[in-house]
Amino acid sequence: MAAESVNHGRRRFLTASTVVVGGVGGVFAAIPFIAAWKPNAKAVAAGAPVTADISKLAVGEQLTIAWRGRPIFIVRRSEAMLAALPAEDARLKDPQSTVVDQQPEFAKNGYRSLKPDILVLVGSCTHLGCSPKLHTEVQPEPWDSQWKGGYYCPCHNSRFDLAGRVYDGSPAPTNLVVPPYRFESDTRVVIGESEGAA
Ligand code: FES
Repeated sequence: MAAESVNHGRRRFLTASTVVVGGVGGVFAAIPFIAAWKPNAKAVAAGAPVTADISKLAVGEQLTIAWRGRPIFIVRRSEAMLAALPAEDARLKDPQSTVVDQQPEFAKNGYRSLKPDILVLVGSCTHLGCSPKLHTEVQPEPWDSQWKGGYYCPCHNSRFDLAGRVYDGSPAPTNLVVPPYRFESDTRVVIGESEGAA
């Protein structure tokens, strides 16, 4: 079980459970719970997939879960957020997501996602690993007078748009990483498994 948090723009948080996807199947019912739980915990630490419930994730909100000891950001973007993305291309280092290993093949598109509205990112700055903060307000900010919403890393002033694409002039060299993931259903996202994988 891992902690989840939701960013409601005013930093309210809630805790929910994270479901670990594993191969325990029928064995799980035949042995005591604690005995089954311990291997799963090790599996999670080793990088086993985790499942996030996004049924309560509202437009503009961010859910954070842990996978492989790293924060995973899941954001439900609005139509306006998506419509604003192409206009940012001219200010970005890699608007087409051409740098290898920064995203799965399925995320090499203008949204950097499987479904346009759901953004999934590793929440670690590609400069030195600080956790960037989501700022969805479209307004001039101290770090960017043309701010259209996105992530700001306060450690050394790296800026990323609402697809995790890094802005020119940021010390971060590359876009935020999109992890492998797939949709188990409309409300459940499996982090750590790519679409089409077993
Ligand atoms: S760690 Fe984010 S800008 Fe340096």
